[in-house]
Amino acid sequence: MNYLIGLDIGTTSTRAIIIDEDGKLISSATSEYPLITPRPGWAEQHPEDWWKATVDVIKKVIEKSKVSPKSIAAIGPSGQMHGSVFLDKDGNVLRPALLWCDQRTQKQCDEIYDIFGYENFIKLSYNKALTGFTAPKVLWLRENEPDKYKNIYKILLPKDYVRFKLSGTYATEVSDASGTILLDIAKRNWSDEILKGLDISRGVLPEVYESPEISAKVNAEAASLTGLLEGTPIAGGAGDQAGGAVGSGIVAPGLISDYLGTSGVVFSYSDCPVYDTQGRLHSFCHAVPGKWHLMGVTLAAAGSLKWYDDTFGPSRKIMEQYPDKKSYKLLDLQAENAPAGSEGLIFLPYLSGERTPYADPYARGVFFGISYVHNQDHFARAILEGVAYSQLDCLSLMRDTGVNSDKIVLFGGGAKSRIWKQIVADIFDTKIVTLNVEEGPSYGGALLAGVGCGIYKSVQAAVSKIIKEKDETSPVKENVEIYKKFYGIYKSLYEDLKKDFVDLVKI
Ligand code: XUL
Repeated sequence: MNYLIGLDIGTTSTRAIIIDEDGKLISSATSEYPLITPRPGWAEQHPEDWWKATVDVIKKVIEKSKVSPKSIAAIGPSGQMHGSVFLDKDGNVLRPALLWCDQRTQKQCDEIYDIFGYENFIKLSYNKALTGFTAPKVLWLRENEPDKYKNIYKILLPKDYVRFKLSGTYATEVSDASGTILLDIAKRNWSDEILKGLDISRGVLPEVYESPEISAKVNAEAASLTGLLEGTPIAGGAGDQAGGAVGSGIVAPGLISDYLGTSGVVFSYSDCPVYDTQGRLHSFCHAVPGKWHLMGVTLAAAGSLKWYDDTFGPSRKIMEQYPDKKSYKLLDLQAENAPAGSEGLIFLPYLSGERTPYADPYARGVFFGISYVHNQDHFARAILEGVAYSQLDCLSLMRDTGVNSDKIVLFGGGAKSRIWKQIVADIFDTKIVTLNVEEGPSYGGALLAGVGCGIYKSVQAAVSKIIKEKDETSPVKENVEIYKKFYGIYKSLYEDLKKDFVDLVKI
């Protein structure tokens, strides 16, 4: 029997899984690290932390699985997108990586539009220049830390840094490279025109592969650290969203998924690159060779719930009632105690600005409509509802482009919550399905590795062999009507507060 390793270099932790060629999960391990926020709106991580965590989890999954490293046919890395790892010529990290949720680069995004013109830039990259993306981070370094900039030898994305540490090879693949906005999405390779306009040399960027392609092999040093066999092939892998979509079967026309992790992502498959003159959704290459996808991103999805849990935690009442249950479960139970619509308490989840639909780094979180009637249960429910409203914003844009489906595949941590699943079904007014496989990006990574080393004929073949629907949740009619009314207020709140958000940040 052959085995595959899937990796996910996440924002809170790195996870490794081993699956067998029938898709059965054999073992898993997770290792956490901190998120550094030196200033409001800044978000960084030490790439070395990702590497240490990777060594740790690979060692652990191999040990736990009792699988011989000889039968590990390939590895597939996936990871948080858009992060900028700047390396010198000896492969040393020049500074902590700026992450996908870092918001410091509005000035550099404006400069990109000044260089190319707003509409022309969207034509070239199929996307807007957004603060979270990689290209403005490169310009930020050039302007703010020129001594570091001049020592750049390579710029890598998070999972591609881990590949480099595993193999000594500089490589990336199309799905993650799309999120740099330095890629020609239609040609699936670096865009000479964008690079020239931004004065970035092609030489500082790694080779671009299709996601299942074998791009590197584990070297002797990494083998001795991890327990892997030297020479184990490493597939291109994928950005966490495209990887998660593969791991959730979104590999054919008409399929849409909703991922509720730290960020929340509505994702749809496309047979061709999708160009929208306003670039309202991200239009990226899919991890399926020769295919594309659209996505909309809520920056703080389960991230909002984590913030609430870290800051306020579950209510004393619910902890006394369920002494054996853990935090998130307790918040779920609280949310179940409040009625649909949280009796008029509305949460805007813009804790670190918002990506879709506003592309506004200055937006901030809001609880609106608080009255004496509200207790902690309402606050917990309002968070789940506010995130779902924001995901509906993304889905509505997708529906506008003509992409629609009579069901949405839900995955990520949020899919484990019964109440959140129901809220999403009610707010989307669409059937929600969950799957037999709940791993998301790491699982997608493992399947891509399986395609790369020839175990599966294609990404679609892997998915149809392994991924099945497990259960479905239908919208409750009365709730749908309640949410329609509150969603109108949710939407107008952003418009009403837009200027105040900017004034607040200026102070
Ligand atoms: C996608 C995005 C996030 C990160 C974090 O565009 O920014 O989903 O990949 O996981």
